[in-house]
Amino acid sequence: MNIVIGSDHGGFALKEELKKRLTEQGCQVKDVGCSGNETADYPEIAEKLCRTLLDEKKDFGILCCGTGIGVSIAANKIKGIRAALCSDCYSARMAKAHNNANVITLGGRTVGTELAWMMVQEYMKETFLGGIHETRVNMINNL
Ligand code: RB5
Repeated sequence: MNIVIGSDHGGFALKEELKKRLTEQGCQVKDVGCSGNETADYPEIAEKLCRTLLDEKKDFGILCCGTGIGVSIAANKIKGIRAALCSDCYSARMAKAHNNANVITLGGRTVGTELAWMMVQEYMKETFLGGIHETRVNMINNL
């Protein structure tokens, strides 16, 4: 899997841990920042990640900030991006199966590392179901 990952300072520690685990699992992970605990502006990171995902045709993206909210709002402004804020495993699975999300967003200050890791794994195991869900995703694309 070819993944792009990014965070602001609020999601930095979580991003680092997820990057480490994904790399250990054999995934190619491109990190678009930030690179430390210094204050970073999440809209900039979200845009950088989304452009990278689309331009380099990555399989999916992971964005982390304090809550996961700011990066999801920012990412969803970019055409072609379907970013899903996840805080439980069922939502992480449905983000893929029903919404065909190409970015998942997570809160470094709101979910623990193990739950975040489980959510990433659940999302990665799922496949988009298509059919009526594809019709609805197309309706989103046409909004
Ligand atoms: C940064 O303090 C915080 O606002 C940011 O990480 C995020 O939670 C925004 O949604």
